[in-house]
Amino acid sequence: MKKYLVAFVIALFPLASFASGGAGPKLDHMAVDLHNQASLQRGMQVFVNNCLGCHSAQYQRYQRAAEDLGMPINLVEENLLLGNQKVGQQMTNTMLKEDSASWFGTAPPDLTLESRLRGPDWLYTYLRSFYKDSSRPWGVNNVVFPDVGMPNVLEYLQGEQVNHCSAEEAQHHEAKIDPLTGKMMGGCMSISKKGQQTTEEFDKTVYDLVNFMAYIGEPSKLDSQRIGTKVLIFLFLFFFVAYALKKEYWKDVH
Ligand code: HEC
Repeated sequence: MKKYLVAFVIALFPLASFASGGAGPKLDHMAVDLHNQASLQRGMQVFVNNCLGCHSAQYQRYQRAAEDLGMPINLVEENLLLGNQKVGQQMTNTMLKEDSASWFGTAPPDLTLESRLRGPDWLYTYLRSFYKDSSRPWGVNNVVFPDVGMPNVLEYLQGEQVNHCSAEEAQHHEAKIDPLTGKMMGGCMSISKKGQQTTEEFDKTVYDLVNFMAYIGEPSKLDSQRIGTKVLIFLFLFFFVAYALKKEYWKDVH
């Protein structure tokens, strides 16, 4: 028994070192909720209006998203399609990779699988931790992604954020926003110029956006959950049928 216990503890070691994480700030946690259609719909709107200009989500079709998220096709056609796109098309843009690479230093990557690559917590924290830095080409830097080549495209909503600590110091604090002071990263970051949203509203906007990004990363997850429930119901009912059959077959044997 003891031997098994020791083996079990040793087997857990790699998990423990993984959980302790590497360097960098502690990320804010967000619980993805793929059943919250209203949130996913709002997230899609934020994504199309603010991100699709530079990034694509080329493995996702508008129509599939509209169907999965319960949005009427004509509303999506009227409000969310860019230029002369069709609803059956993938969510792409017309920016050429070579152009964007020369404008930004790095081409904006496709975001379909981004939430699987980085994880929702990383995205949720990244999109809220841009701060003013005049030494950078776009005038902003990011605590989670130092020297990032992306401008803070949601600044009009969040406002302008300043970092009172050195970038190094801010890295060591939790990304949580203090509800009393509205400051982030252990008091390092504060809003210096108001945007259109309060801190709470902005957190919600980013939550919806990342929720949507989690959905495009795994669109079949919604299907599998729906099918999974049906399978369980079927198995539950089938149990009674099987049991009745068994009784019937063995009746004469006993
Ligand atoms: C003006 C163009 C532009 C817009 C608009 C834009 N981005 Fe970016 N984004 C970039 C560029 C350029 C990079 C690459 C930065 C780098 O590697 O330094 C990037 C990188 C990223 C990354 C990190 C990718 C990685 O893992 O390395 C994420 C996540 C991201 N963008 C999300 C978003 C989201 C979400 C939106 C919409 C709210 C958005 N971006 C809007 C230009 C843009």
